[in-house]
Amino acid sequence: MSRTVIVSNRVALPGAQRPGGLAIALQAALRESEGLWFGWSGRSGAATEIPQRCRERGIDYATLDLSQDDVDAYYRGFANRVLWPLLHSRVDLVDYRRECSDGYQRVNAGFARALARELRGDDAIWVHDYHLIPLAAQLRRLGVDNRIGFFLHVPFPPADLAATLPHHRELFDPLRAYDLIGLQTRTDAAHLAEYLQTHAGLRALGGGRWRGDEGRTTRIGAFPIGIDTDAIAAQAADAAALAEVRRLRDSLGGRRLVIGVDRLDYSKGLPERMRAFERHLQRHPDLCGQLTYLQIAPLSRSDVPEYRSLRAELEALAGHVNGAHARPDWTPIRYVNHDYPHSALTGFYRSAAVGLVTPLRDGMNLVAKEYVASQAAADPGALVLSRFAGAADQLGEALLVNPHDADEVADAVAAAARMPLAQRRERWAAMMASLRASDIGAWRRGFLQALAETAPAPAQDG
Ligand code: G6P
Repeated sequence: MSRTVIVSNRVALPGAQRPGGLAIALQAALRESEGLWFGWSGRSGAATEIPQRCRERGIDYATLDLSQDDVDAYYRGFANRVLWPLLHSRVDLVDYRRECSDGYQRVNAGFARALARELRGDDAIWVHDYHLIPLAAQLRRLGVDNRIGFFLHVPFPPADLAATLPHHRELFDPLRAYDLIGLQTRTDAAHLAEYLQTHAGLRALGGGRWRGDEGRTTRIGAFPIGIDTDAIAAQAADAAALAEVRRLRDSLGGRRLVIGVDRLDYSKGLPERMRAFERHLQRHPDLCGQLTYLQIAPLSRSDVPEYRSLRAELEALAGHVNGAHARPDWTPIRYVNHDYPHSALTGFYRSAAVGLVTPLRDGMNLVAKEYVASQAAADPGALVLSRFAGAADQLGEALLVNPHDADEVADAVAAAARMPLAQRRERWAAMMASLRASDIGAWRRGFLQALAETAPAPAQDG
């Protein structure tokens, strides 16, 4: 069995904050092959060329520090202010600067040099997310001909939107150096294939396989990420006993809970969601005072201006809605920036009659899946889910909405709150069956199996 090498911008180092579901799944993949996890240490200061290493429970970790200039250009500038908005179809927010693009390429080249020294001949390399698009091409330049796969956790926009980026070919053309590219949905895979066909001269070979001039075959496919469904269900059942969860339930005074949990990010549609919640109060006055909407929105990327202005906007909106509709004994929106441990979140999900997950665009959205997995079988809540989250492909029994349509979201909140038990049970059972059939273990095994089945890379590429 070949060793698995995972490369990502953020590395779930042992002893750091509690790993999420994805990190646990990747660690499981690594443990099976005594693998290596390589990436940024998260530290900035003096840049390092030789990685710091540690080993825990059969996994090697190797991380590099970056200089402050590199972090500013590669992570803050290019990943967060160019790639994130572009890939989420927010072309209006893209702030392209040549020096950031150069810094992004420079950091990827540095990662490739340091990683190449760690590699063994038959390692299978699995690169994650938009921070590292050029990594395979940089590794090929150094003579690495291992199998290299790439998984994009976020959406890929329609080809003509991707082509609005200055020098877009410089960024995306190197994707051809991968043997396998995985995306969250078939739509994302089709967008990327169309882009590479139009702008990088790839020719279709059939079966999701594509070939460029150098003769390398790249497979492009959808590998929708899942969750550890049964583990989350068990965690949610146990979480009922946690103090935070009991306090939340006690505080509701018999009202029912609507919950949203999202990083404070403009892709999540939070202002639209708060406005839609207000609209539900106006359109369904009989529900006024019956539902309390808890929005947990941990701060994220706060050094990026767009995130700071979003925070100010949400503070004003939550204040406005509460000021206009609250009563002395009821506040419609509870807006919380604090981040909670995963176990408490599953308990919150289980306490909520309605899960409100309405991103404007989202690669997958694991909150939607975790909300479903956290429900009690006897009395499950109902999910209101954006059509523009990848999760909508697997959760068709949710109330699917257009997050830009405040009336539609408002009516779906009301319909979810009024849904009879039999219908909730039926929809929930169908969604749970889908989440069990394609859980996170199936995702990682499916991707690594597909990577193992790709043809070995031809040596002439470079
Ligand atoms: C998304 C991205 C991840 C990223 C995470 C948190 O889920 O797909 O790659 O790590 O957001 O963002 P941050 O910039 O804090 O790493």
